[in-house]
Amino acid sequence: MLRLDWRTPDSWATAVLADPLALLSDHAHCELKAASAVQSLIVTYPDRQALVQKLGPMAVEEMQHFNQVVEVVAGRGHSLRAARPSPYAEGLGKAARQGRQHLMLDRLLVAGLIEERSYERFELLAEHAEDGELKHLYRDLMVSEARHRRLFALVARNYYSRAEIEKREGELRAAEAAVISALPFEVRMHSGPVPMPVHDDPNSHAGVGECA
Ligand SMILES: [Fe+2]
Ligand SMILES: [Fe+2]
Repeated sequence: MLRLDWRTPDSWATAVLADPLALLSDHAHCELKAASAVQSLIVTYPDRQALVQKLGPMAVEEMQHFNQVVEVVAGRGHSLRAARPSPYAEGLGKAARQGRQHLMLDRLLVAGLIEERSYERFELLAEHAEDGELKHLYRDLMVSEARHRRLFALVARNYYSRAEIEKREGELRAAEAAVISALPFEVRMHSGPVPMPVHDDPNSHAGVGECA
């Protein structure tokens, strides 16, 4: 199913799993933001019946995900940390076109891409988590995000031609890849890759002359 233009390396998953509470707290805020993004689409386009009927249950489900993550955090004796601005969401927001009709398509496609990126990352996290509870959580959520991705595509098909969707989706997929691959690495769901270690180049001439 994955049609992302940039794949998250496995090293990202092992690095974020080193601080599970920071990751879980950021993840809980992501679920909360997903619920409010879906509600905001309904508030903006209340006359689009297919959109309202498909996205209403999704808003409920994102809040269930939020509660699931909060339960895991609470079960470990912690509370959520403060929410932080998301440069990922900000970057994707800038890629969306303005104007009511264009904006609706772009918002649906961007939301679908975020679901797809979440699916990709949950799959990696489920694969690399050694903690059974986290492995189960990520595998469970992975399935839902794949379904949400398909739902956003279905809603878009009610209002736009397949050709228009495919063209714009290709452009936004490239924008999403450019945004996330350029983000700095942090322990959060939508961060960039772990920087590659810098190896000394034995053929480098740097330092030549220092002994002179
Ligand atoms: Fe979710
Ligand atoms: Fe979702």
